[in-house]
Amino acid sequence: MNHDSTLSFFDLKHSPFGKEVNVKDLWLDPSRESAVDRLVEAVHRRQHALVRGEPGVGKNCVTRAMKHRLPETAFRVVYVANVTVGRRDFYRQLSFALGLQPRGTMAAVFEAVQREVRGSWSDHRIHPVLVIDEAHLMPDATLSHLHVLANFDMDSRPLLSLVLVGLPELQDRLRLGVHRSLLTRIGTMVDIGVTGPADTAAYVRHRLERAGATRDIFASDGFVVLHELAAGVPRVLDALAEGAMREAAERDERLISRASVRRAWQATPYA
Ligand SMILES: Nc1ncnc2c1ncn2[C@@H]1O[C@H](COP(=O)(O)OP(=O)(O)O)[C@@H](O)[C@H]1O
Ligand SMILES: [Mg+2]
Repeated sequence: MNHDSTLSFFDLKHSPFGKEVNVKDLWLDPSRESAVDRLVEAVHRRQHALVRGEPGVGKNCVTRAMKHRLPETAFRVVYVANVTVGRRDFYRQLSFALGLQPRGTMAAVFEAVQREVRGSWSDHRIHPVLVIDEAHLMPDATLSHLHVLANFDMDSRPLLSLVLVGLPELQDRLRLGVHRSLLTRIGTMVDIGVTGPADTAAYVRHRLERAGATRDIFASDGFVVLHELAAGVPRVLDALAEGAMREAAERDERLISRASVRRAWQATPYA
């Protein structure tokens, strides 16, 4: 059965478990809601923050929710995602993200970034927020240079907030050697964890409802197996729930059973 017939079998308007989630459709349980609150507050206080969690738990979704909550008239959120590069390319990307003209040398790029960051506050009263995704992948030379960015200050308050996003080992790395000074400048840390059994069901229901579901599509034991197999990781839940819908539709099963979830699991790369 193809994708569209699966959707129509379950009376859904669009694909429920796609990667691109509209920020208004994000699922924020109390723990994610509080993570977003804490990030928003950290940035309002011009602090730096660390967002930690296993792959696929929803770190990016939480940082997107943070961005959405920050008024554009007072904050400018800039993303840098490709961080495996050396220092010079990192600053090139950053300067590109800030809309600056390309420059030749590292010193020139750095100076332009610094000027932009200073001007952002002094001329426009806009606080820049630099989100660095997959920060655990940064080479030492790039990571260690971040404390220079973290140190741009005025009245001893940083001129920009760094939001480092990464796997739990990022914090272990920051505890080591040269990175310690950066760690001491991070005022807020939020942990994004896997969902518990009840939240797994709430997450899946939420995504289905946003796609137009008006009734339960998974049987209660279907939810139990979804949770066990995906271990509460939303990205894995997405793939598994989608596969289970296909399996069930092929069998004309309107309430998805645990058997269909198990069969779908075998077809995921996680099995
Ligand atoms: N709060 C959420 N609301 C809706 N979908 C989510 C949420 N958290 C995670 N997801 C789903 O899980 C996928 C992985 O989330 P993501 O934020 O990219 O994880 P991470 O950055 O931790 O690897 C997303 O593409 C989305 O489909
Ligand atoms: Mg991510």
